[in-house]
Amino acid sequence: MAVEIKSQMEIELMREAGRILALTHEELKKAIRPGISTYEIDQIGENFIRSQGCIPSFLNYNGYPASICVSVNDEVVHGIPSKHRILKEGDIVSLDAGVIYKGYHSDSARTYGVGKISEEAQKLIDVTKESFFEGLKAARAGNHISDISKAVYDYITERGYTAVKDLVGHGVGAHLHEDPEVPNFPTGRRGAKLRPGMTIAVEPMINIGGYEVEWLDDDWTVVTKDGSLSAHYENTILITEGDPEILSKADGIEL
Ligand code: MF3
Ligand code: CO
Repeated sequence: MAVEIKSQMEIELMREAGRILALTHEELKKAIRPGISTYEIDQIGENFIRSQGCIPSFLNYNGYPASICVSVNDEVVHGIPSKHRILKEGDIVSLDAGVIYKGYHSDSARTYGVGKISEEAQKLIDVTKESFFEGLKAARAGNHISDISKAVYDYITERGYTAVKDLVGHGVGAHLHEDPEVPNFPTGRRGAKLRPGMTIAVEPMINIGGYEVEWLDDDWTVVTKDGSLSAHYENTILITEGDPEILSKADGIEL
């Protein structure tokens, strides 16, 4: 399918969705501490999103039962919040959230440490975030999707990490998932040519150990096969005539 080019009006709605999503992540970040359940994190996120007049886009998406994906340690993505899952000092936790504002989506993810974490875990979180920004540098009109993939992949492999292959970034707009796919690894194809007005979610999912993942019996939670730690960092971005624009951001809020 052809990749959509968004109108100025659509981009404006996606900026607002992205601003509210950034504020949502800020609320979630403040809540992260040893002793909180992943269910409570989901509730804080859902309540905040609704308080801003938005809809949590993940809730009921293909049957997903919550508003925030909360993935702990070896969980890569799509962890289902639970009253029985309590964060403890030393954990790392990935929070993936999506909002809909007037029909338009924004999608972003962050990974945080819970209390004091190991140097090894912090390094994984940092490199995962940095790899997004490497990908961002390649997100320029005239380049192809594969340029983003290569930038992310080279950055993390040079540092000894692996990129998950069973899940990819994606176009985003009136739907949470649109064309094109945005892999974090080389596929042997160039992928779509980037043009101004394309909006995509770039989302490195990076492991300390092997790249292989598997699904838990809940049919959602993706975990690393070898049990190694995994981190996730994602923003919704806009391809422009010049520098790419991060849409899932708000003034005064750290990316
Ligand atoms: N951010 C996730 C992604 O792009 C969306 C979560 S899917 C859901 O894949 F079903 F959990 F909502
Ligand atoms: Co996404």
